[in-house]
Amino acid sequence: MFYPKIIQGGMGVGVSNWVLARAVSIAGQLGVVSGTALDVVLARRLQLGDPDGHVRRALDHFPFPEIAKRVWETYFVEGGIPKGQPYKPVPLMTATPHQSVLELHTLANFVEVFLAKAGHAGSVGINFLEKIQMPTLACIFGSMLAGVDFILMGAGIPRAIPGVLDQFAKGQAARLKLDVEGSTPDKEFASTFDPEKFCGCKVPELKRPHFLAIITSATLALTLSKKSTGKVDGFVVEGESAGGHNAPPRGVMQLSVDGEPIYGERDLPDLKKIAAIGLPFWLAGSYGAPGKLREALDLGATGIQVGTAFAFCEESGITPEIKEAVLREAACGTLKVHTDPLASPTGFPFKVLQLKGSVADPAVYDTRCRVCDLGYLRHPYQKADGTLGYRCSAEPATAFLRKGGKEAELEGRKCVCNGLVATAGYGQLLSGDKVEAPLLTAGDDVVNIRRFLKPGQLTYTAKDVIDALLA
Ligand SMILES: Cc1cc2nc3c(=O)[nH]c(=O)nc-3n(C[C@H](O)[C@H](O)[C@H](O)COP(=O)(O)O)c2cc1C
Repeated sequence: MFYPKIIQGGMGVGVSNWVLARAVSIAGQLGVVSGTALDVVLARRLQLGDPDGHVRRALDHFPFPEIAKRVWETYFVEGGIPKGQPYKPVPLMTATPHQSVLELHTLANFVEVFLAKAGHAGSVGINFLEKIQMPTLACIFGSMLAGVDFILMGAGIPRAIPGVLDQFAKGQAARLKLDVEGSTPDKEFASTFDPEKFCGCKVPELKRPHFLAIITSATLALTLSKKSTGKVDGFVVEGESAGGHNAPPRGVMQLSVDGEPIYGERDLPDLKKIAAIGLPFWLAGSYGAPGKLREALDLGATGIQVGTAFAFCEESGITPEIKEAVLREAACGTLKVHTDPLASPTGFPFKVLQLKGSVADPAVYDTRCRVCDLGYLRHPYQKADGTLGYRCSAEPATAFLRKGGKEAELEGRKCVCNGLVATAGYGQLLSGDKVEAPLLTAGDDVVNIRRFLKPGQLTYTAKDVIDALLA
């Protein structure tokens, strides 16, 4: 196994895209693409006309050309959709998706990994969130078809994933038990994916990627190392200052005067216990600074995982306009991150960068009409008749309440799906000429990204970050 000193953290949606991951891998570290919502990213790239032909290049290498052709024909628009026309909707994922939905997810993950791996011999990983369960099998399979080297998964307890990797490597079908709210003991819901059925032919044996679990405590590391369905190859130990979702504090959540969760001693991972498991581990959460790699190595880690510093570099998928706005504020020292306990429909605290014109801006949030047209964070629940329903606390309130959702859960929820997709430049057109506003996440470390700017410049590269961290 390759033991990088630096893992560039997976950052959704489309922030750690193939361009960023490839640049990091070429520089000798582990580049990681985000596997979240790649179906909509692919569908919208195709509707923008695939301007540089990169998607086409990847699709030409997909081992099942009929599938690639169907997706291309469904979404590709020569020259891009006209200004003022909304993107075609992508079907929402369910527990029992149609073949066309599986095709889009599988292909999208193949494309991202294929492009990240093209033209060099470095390793590439893909990141998934355990909480988003329904598309996982198709996404993993697509990334394995492209030869992904590492799978990283956090935001939950990914006990079942190592076994899935073993099964797909042998061309066998896999099954993933779904967490269903309100499910009765007599019911078990699962998502299944059979490579042979999906491809309509025998599937070749695939390389089994290494599996790194993203965790916050030694207890979780121990559980995963002992009770997973297959081999866990290492851990990323992520602290609460990291960008994206954070694990909630232990015990009853207490909030600071600013409304942020209060973390204490009990939330600090016991690194000695984690080291004693004998697997490699990387430390994450404000490790994107010179000297921090040495500190991590001294604590017994193999290296560090860094997100925030890479999120705003030239190669990342955040639009150049947003990056410029953030870097201008960074240079002035006026950036602020709020750990919002309510924003994410997952119920996990979510770091929200307070940027004017983004969903963090009350003027923007208050005027957005709730819509749920992407649905990645919809949670399955068992209906009174025993079948599955899907609800999201950021969807229109009446729909959520009709589906048995609790009124209290509606408060402060933000449409993380549309906000993050907009940050990567694929925001959906709303009524009139309004477009979904971006939602930005970043770690506490964002206030320090100006350290990567050379005098008089307002951009920096992934290589600049790597050089500074290794120095
Ligand atoms: C913009 C952004 C998006 C992120 N998205 C994800 C994600 O989708 N899944 C995930 O496991 N971690 C995500 N993270 C966390 C990173 O993978 C990484 O662990 C974290 O950024 C490390 O801490 P740092 O932000 O202090 O560098 C994200 C971080 C950022 C900054």
